[in-house]
Amino acid sequence: MKFFVDTADVDAIKELNELGMVDGVTTNPSLILKSGRDILEVTKEICGIVEGPVSAEVVAVEADQMIEEGRKLAEIADNIAVKVPLTWDGLKACKVLAGEGNMVNVTLCFSANQALLAAKAGATFISPFIGRLDDINLDGMDLIGDIRTIYDNYGYETQILAASIRTVNHATQSALIGADVMTAPPDVIKKMAAHPLTDKGLEAFLADWEKTGQKIL
Ligand code: E4P
Repeated sequence: MKFFVDTADVDAIKELNELGMVDGVTTNPSLILKSGRDILEVTKEICGIVEGPVSAEVVAVEADQMIEEGRKLAEIADNIAVKVPLTWDGLKACKVLAGEGNMVNVTLCFSANQALLAAKAGATFISPFIGRLDDINLDGMDLIGDIRTIYDNYGYETQILAASIRTVNHATQSALIGADVMTAPPDVIKKMAAHPLTDKGLEAFLADWEKTGQKIL
């Protein structure tokens, strides 16, 4: 499973990248706001750190303008994935931008039908938002499963990018269901390493080691 980091925090990206945990990065306007940085500048810096796809999102709502913005974002680096919203105009922009050889990430997907349309429009990635469905008492993981089934039924190559991952359980479930990629905030990726039995076991080993009076170094 590929891991994308859902952040525009360059230091957090560098830290995870050094561990080989970063196959790509996703950003959105809210994350750019949080970073306090200029979108073109911070995206360029991220593209220089990470080899894999770096999603940068258009903010226009009409297809023609989305295409222009997408072309400008794509000029930042070869590993840019232009992010467009799953609207009818977004699908038009996806078709054109993908046709020009760009990676396109179709975002804000909340239904299997939307995902089917994105695949037909040539999306490289479809981003179903798990956490936001859970927020309104629906099951985001059911959506990932439905998209997996539909894409496998017809051999669509669009990659399922499980997004809006809020918990470590979301990460496990996405992997079990067969999402191609998950994008998660840095703290969720770090929390995946934690287990109370690991902590307890380590504590016991260290206490026993102390009693041996030995040293390795
Ligand atoms: C994905 O590309 C989005 O940036 C992100 O996963 C949204 O997550 P949120 O619903 O926690 O804001």
